[in-house]
Amino acid sequence: MTDGPLILGIETSCDETAVAVVQGLEVRSSVLSSQTEAHARFGGVVPEVAARAHVEAIRPLAHQALAQAGVHSDELDAVAVTRGPGLVGALMVGFAFGKALAWSLGKPFLAIDHMEGHLFAPRLEHPDFAPPAVVLLASGGHSQIVHVRDWGSYEVVGATMDDAAGEALDKLARFMGLGYPGGPAIDLASDGGDPGAIAFPRPLRDHPYDFSFSGLKTSVVTFLERAKAQGSVPPLPDVAASLQEAIVDVLVDKTFNAVESARVQHVAGGGGVLANRRLRQRFREEADRRGVELHLPSAAMCTDNGAMIAAAANFRLGLGEVASWQVDVDAGLRLGA
Ligand code: KG4
Ligand code: ZN
Repeated sequence: MTDGPLILGIETSCDETAVAVVQGLEVRSSVLSSQTEAHARFGGVVPEVAARAHVEAIRPLAHQALAQAGVHSDELDAVAVTRGPGLVGALMVGFAFGKALAWSLGKPFLAIDHMEGHLFAPRLEHPDFAPPAVVLLASGGHSQIVHVRDWGSYEVVGATMDDAAGEALDKLARFMGLGYPGGPAIDLASDGGDPGAIAFPRPLRDHPYDFSFSGLKTSVVTFLERAKAQGSVPPLPDVAASLQEAIVDVLVDKTFNAVESARVQHVAGGGGVLANRRLRQRFREEADRRGVELHLPSAAMCTDNGAMIAAAANFRLGLGEVASWQVDVDAGLRLGA
């Protein structure tokens, strides 16, 4: 058994209600309730639907996380909750629940940046992951390349100018009739496809670190509409593999540009898009080629979860940082700002 504080981590920033019990960096339990089905018929996340689903799920899920960890709430050293960024109504549910729980238990309450949670996720499975490092964060709402100089010292060296990578995948999947969430659907649809079949553009190739994905989106839509009109739509696996490759190329190139200029030996990733099999493979190849150490969380730790919130809280608690009872959610919270 590891030591370190016993922390309950709560995450409700988007469409996943997630709770975990983490001790130090050991995940004692990590459970979640996905709302995918509730949003699927709308083709994307509906904020009101998300907030209501969090309200229903949070209490039983917290009980389940404690029971699975074999921990009584009295034994917790702290309660940590995502403060932002995310959907304000969704954030408020987890935040109010966690604050009330901490208050009633008389335990410290920590308000955690969701993106710092993603930064700490690799630590849970790769304890040797340490700064200085470059981390690619790519999710439904964010695409950022972060230079982690030290824990708590973050410089966002690259970011998207428009859509996040996950957002582009979600929108394209919807256009292609593949459903929601789109990233996993495109990942699956790309099986057996030729990533070089269609030469979709690699946007902002000249810029070393920033991304832009809305032009790619338009280009795929235009290509498919034209192909349809001509009655010559390529096989779905080829289309999926080719558009996925365009996004993967850009993410890999720019992340490793940052690895090179920051002269770091450690590279990692976080956020739902890092669950993508092709992206993971390309990351591995590139890290091997350059002789740098790669620390990718398992797919379940790339997507939103409570353990990553507890892991970031473990660091913050170590600094003696505890939130006041007056602190509220911040939907626009920005890493490094
Ligand atoms: O980090 P995350 O779970 O939630 C946010 O904080 O947004 O990321 C969700 C995003 C969605 O856009 C989803 O389509 C994408 O991650 N995603 C994937 C895969 N799994 C999830 N994208 C590509 N390939 C996947 N296997
Ligand atoms: Zn996330």
